[in-house]
Amino acid sequence: MAGTRLIRTIAEMRGYRRRLGTGRSPVGFVPTMGALHFGHASLIEASVRAGDRAVVSIFVNPSQFGPKEDFARYPRPLERDLALCESAGAAAVFAPETREMYPEGFDTWVQVGGITEGLCGASRPGHFRGVATIVAKLFGIVRPDRAYFGQKDAQQVAVIRKMAGELDMGIEIVVCPTVREESGLAMSSRNAYLGAREREAALGLSSALAKAAESASKGMRDAEALKAAMRRIVEDKGGGLARIDYVEIVDPSTFKPVSSAVPGSLALLAVYVGGTRLIDNAFLG
Ligand code: PAJ
Repeated sequence: MAGTRLIRTIAEMRGYRRRLGTGRSPVGFVPTMGALHFGHASLIEASVRAGDRAVVSIFVNPSQFGPKEDFARYPRPLERDLALCESAGAAAVFAPETREMYPEGFDTWVQVGGITEGLCGASRPGHFRGVATIVAKLFGIVRPDRAYFGQKDAQQVAVIRKMAGELDMGIEIVVCPTVREESGLAMSSRNAYLGAREREAALGLSSALAKAAESASKGMRDAEALKAAMRRIVEDKGGGLARIDYVEIVDPSTFKPVSSAVPGSLALLAVYVGGTRLIDNAFLG
């Protein structure tokens, strides 16, 4: 293998992209904030498997964190991340400094309407504005043919799809399934914050989703009843460590809550476990 190239500046990334050209295999792009795990690796591998030259970005984007959130302490293990990108087959890693992406005076923002209002958008004001802006900027720098995102962040996927479509970015958005630990816990960079008891408590999220999917497939359609059962599971497993932010069942095309679950409805939840905010979701049958 030729090895993964590390790129630190926008100018160098543009030069590299120009040299990749348009004639040969497509350019795939996997935007991340680093602290990479098997979930991220699955996106890179999907890109490589599709025959792309895969570019990964690693950038902890300050504009998508609230003032009281974990931007400062977000893990940044660059050496380990580069090794993971290399073994997953990435052609290049773009890891710019904050100043490179947000120079003095930067003040242009991408605001996606509607679907950003509820759920994580309601709990984290400005979060999706930060996400849409940085992803638009990265798309403009990397100019990929396709970009890969995880279903783990279901609302983010919907936001990116809407932005890329409505702004005619001409980039195919590919969504990959949520990668879980054997316990069912969805992999997340933030799992690193969890102690042993918190890890146990965090199993309430995936258990609640599994139960909702099972109940729905057996014909339980009432969203309030499904959500009440999910809340009970999160609280029982949480043993006092879990605090629910939201539990919701939505139509995945609008992200509006439904009163009756239908096949394809999306159950989502956000829960604070200790001080760590975790999210997960699952489609109902
Ligand atoms: P980050 O949380 O690092 O996630 C990067 C990508 O990995 C996202 O598309 C996310 O959905 C995906 N991912 C995370 N955990 C996953 C799992 N367990 N299974 C499958 N995919 C998973 O999401 C972001 O960064 C940022 O908001 C970003 C899009 C990079 C913009 O800053």
